[in-house]
Amino acid sequence: MPRIAYVNGRYVTHADAAVHIEDRGYQFADGVYEVCEVAQGFIVDMPRHLARLNRSLTELSIEWPVTKGVLPLLLREVVRRNQVVNGLVYVQVTRGVASRDFVFPADTLSSLVITARKADPAAAAKRAETGIKVITVPENRWDRVDIKSTGLLPNVLAKQKAKEAGAQEAWFVDTDGSVKEGGSSNAWIVTRDGVLVTRPAEHGILRGITRTTMFEVAAKLGLKIEERGFSVAEAKAAREAFISSATTIAMPVVAIDGAAVANGHPGSITLSLRQAFFDVAEKSPA
Ligand code: PDD
Repeated sequence: MPRIAYVNGRYVTHADAAVHIEDRGYQFADGVYEVCEVAQGFIVDMPRHLARLNRSLTELSIEWPVTKGVLPLLLREVVRRNQVVNGLVYVQVTRGVASRDFVFPADTLSSLVITARKADPAAAAKRAETGIKVITVPENRWDRVDIKSTGLLPNVLAKQKAKEAGAQEAWFVDTDGSVKEGGSSNAWIVTRDGVLVTRPAEHGILRGITRTTMFEVAAKLGLKIEERGFSVAEAKAAREAFISSATTIAMPVVAIDGAAVANGHPGSITLSLRQAFFDVAEKSPA
């Protein structure tokens, strides 16, 4: 069965899915996106992802490409047509197609692309058993990383550097030495006394949907969260460290810049958060 993508009102085979060369997403990264996990046939936390999409669009004055109520139906349909039971659904909205000019074009319709892809939950579970390694890199992104923009070149370079160092994620570090977030995830530590610490999302990071839901998961497990900055040194000396994102949920971090976190094995609190996540997250039938 061929993969199917939704492109500006049409369902097309993935191999033939294309946007115009003058799409502003292609020209200027003038667009935003969302990634929702699909787990056991449900789209995870879809309302929260769509609310954040709305915020990103509003911040950039990009028009909704379809009426708001229609988008959940389109996401479901793309998931269904691709028979994705476990995987992800990706939605991208750009300012549309116009001859190249920096200022916003007048009367241009936004472009909408939706794709879905299968993922192997067993592979993710296996990865959680061993944990991942992260490296740290200096923050070099713009200061509106709260907007989920497709302008991800610093993230691409950081994650490539991580890969070349044998790691799976890169943490952006602020000039004051505090950890901001990963190239495609939020960063967390667990202190010696079992308190979860993550940077406040008001400024300087993306307010991850998984991060938001994790607050509810922690409450359910009776765990305390402190929203504050933490340094690389504090993270290296922490009881546990982990990342969160729609594609990783809570994923243990076992090494930072080559130094083992605790005993170099995934921490039990991280694994309990991972385990409890789907009991708490909102699941919309796909
Ligand atoms: N990335 N921070 C950054 C920079 C991200 O790109 C992401 C998600 C997150 C976590 O957000 P959420 O919990 O809503 O997934 C934090 C997605 C998965 C991606 O770009 O593929």
